Amino acid sequence: MARITQLKTRIVCNRELAESYRYLEFESSCIAKAALPGQFVNIRVSGTSDPLLRRPLSIHGIKGRRVKVLYEVVGKATGILASKKPGDSLDILGPLGNGFNLDRAAPFSAKESNIVVAGGMGVAPLVFLAETLKKSKTQIAQAETIVLIGAKTKKFILCRKEFEALGFSVRIATDDGSLGFKGKVTDLLNSFCGKTRPGMIFSCGPRPMLQAVALAAAEKNIPAQLSLEEYMACGIGACLGCVVSTRQGYKTVCKDGPVFFGEDLIW
Ligand SMILES: Cc1cc2nc3c(=O)[nH]c(=O)nc-3n(C[C@H](O)[C@H](O)[C@H](O)COP(=O)(O)OP(=O)(O)OC[C@H]3O[C@@H](n4cnc5c(N)ncnc54)[C@H](O)[C@@H]3O)c2cc1C
Ligand code: FES
Repeated sequence: MARITQLKTRIVCNRELAESYRYLEFESSCIAKAALPGQFVNIRVSGTSDPLLRRPLSIHGIKGRRVKVLYEVVGKATGILASKKPGDSLDILGPLGNGFNLDRAAPFSAKESNIVVAGGMGVAPLVFLAETLKKSKTQIAQAETIVLIGAKTKKFILCRKEFEALGFSVRIATDDGSLGFKGKVTDLLNSFCGKTRPGMIFSCGPRPMLQAVALAAAEKNIPAQLSLEEYMACGIGACLGCVVSTRQGYKTVCKDGPVFFGEDLIW
């Protein structure tokens, strides 16, 4: 497991992407060197006790010594984070958790592909995953990768260009049909799984979406790696505040996860 660092660092960039969606960059050569796709950082946004707890945000990518994060402003902590300027300090703990497994042997044939399924802000860790797949020499990384991105509406579709720049083909689903397929990204996944049999599915997004991905994968016996979101306190496996039920017993999302194989999860 990568070494966990706690540090005070400076914000390099913190800008709006679309309405409540924002992009953050901070410097940390330790985290930048150690981070694996699917891992996250736990950020303390204030020097006071309000909010008391750190907030988990996925590592979206690494640029030299810098760590990239995408986040949505949904409440107090992310609101405070959004008000910060380049040069402001930030207290970070990371990299945390167990990320995506790129070594697991999948039942591949030359025709099989990886499918990456992103729902809303769930796209954040999947860009880092895609960048790592592109560089990796493992069996999984040799297969073609298709990316499915879903959101409520066109303006919340993020990172399409990043995936395309890596050479991956991207399909879009929006609930209102303002871009791409009209409907859920899981409907798009089901139609893909009807035509071809992917070798591996990687996914991150809201829990109901992940459950639907797990179901689609189980029906076709396709391994699926799902990055879960759960309310967290310590972020390091100490408080048991984030446990989920698995076929191997209770597991912490922060330390054993956040990425789990769909076949192991009990919903
Ligand atoms: C491993 C992990 C990685 C994450 N990565 C990202 C990321 O890359 N980008 C991003 O925008 N968010 C991410 N999140 C969610 C993020 O941590 C929460 O949105 C954030 O903590 C909200 O803090 P807040 O004080 O602004 O909102 P709060 O006031 O705490 O909550 C506001 C609203 O958000 C909901 N909410 C808060 N935390 C969670 C959670 N953990 N799971 C589900 N719903 C929640 C609450 O129910 C409430 O409706 C991640 C969560 C986990 C566990
Ligand atoms: S948040 Fe404390 S064990 Fe996961």
